[in-house]
Amino acid sequence: MKRIGVMTSGGDAPGMNACIRAVVRSGIYNGLEVIGIKRGYTGMIEGDFTQMDLRSVSNILQRGGTILKTSRCEEFLTREGRELAAKRLKEANIEGVILIGGDGTFRGGVKLASEFRVKVVGVPGTIDNDVYGTEFTIGYDTAVNTALDAIDKIRDTAASHDLVFFVEVMGRTAGFIALEAGVGGGAEEILIPETHTNINELANRLKEGIEKGKTSSIVVVAEGDETGDAVTIAKEVKRLVNINYRVTVLGHIQRGGTPTAKDRLLASRLGNAAVEALLNGKENIMVGEINQQITYTPLKETYLKKKLINKELVKLASILSI
Ligand code: F6P
Repeated sequence: MKRIGVMTSGGDAPGMNACIRAVVRSGIYNGLEVIGIKRGYTGMIEGDFTQMDLRSVSNILQRGGTILKTSRCEEFLTREGRELAAKRLKEANIEGVILIGGDGTFRGGVKLASEFRVKVVGVPGTIDNDVYGTEFTIGYDTAVNTALDAIDKIRDTAASHDLVFFVEVMGRTAGFIALEAGVGGGAEEILIPETHTNINELANRLKEGIEKGKTSSIVVVAEGDETGDAVTIAKEVKRLVNINYRVTVLGHIQRGGTPTAKDRLLASRLGNAAVEALLNGKENIMVGEINQQITYTPLKETYLKKKLINKELVKLASILSI
């Protein structure tokens, strides 16, 4: 193998740049040429490629976002789009591609591999942490810390004004960010899609909290919670038990910013592992990290199998918030 490609796709995540740097430097260290594919699958289809040298990744380790840019590409969902992408890779003599992204990226990668025999290796990069085959995804730790910082600040206002705050965090259909930021921030309630929320019980618990002397409360709501969004839930609770409340939706603030040490290390390790995997003839897999060991999971399994949340943490949250 002489030439490989690297791209970021789907939602950006802090640490993607650290991973690109690791891929480029590990690739060159191993005698490979590394080609950057711009704007995810959009750039792959358009042949928007750029040669990466050692200095092209200088000073990016600490930066959020992705220097290769990213996209969610509709055209790649069609066979014609994928055929064009495979043709562009072939024309550029790219023999293997490292895909940094989440489940949408990997679904695309599996199709590219099965339909056009492109060698792909996935690296989990998404703030949502909803990828099977790795304990953590790149960007998740930073997003949790960003949410936690926001919750701490909101608590100051909640306490000063005797309010119940509903804080909505990202995570798509998973509650990983909500659970960890909620426990870390001492939230009174954490609503996640993995557990059922009874809105009457929630309202009563908040009311009882006030009766027991709690002057303010934080309710962390995962955006994917089956009960609805934070605004809807807050209105319903108000209707049931008439509390004073505010809603804060954290949104894309959770996607940006300087990656934490944990994310930089994970990104660096996984970027290197992805290059070595390609060199060792592994393909159609995702590299991950479990108990500090590098793991290899068939790419398809990463989205067909469901990563479970930590049930002990759910229990702990309810014990500590009484
Ligand atoms: O997958 C990352 C993520 O930020 C999710 O948490 C969220 O549901 C989604 O992307 C938002 O997507 P967009 O940036 O396209 O609005």
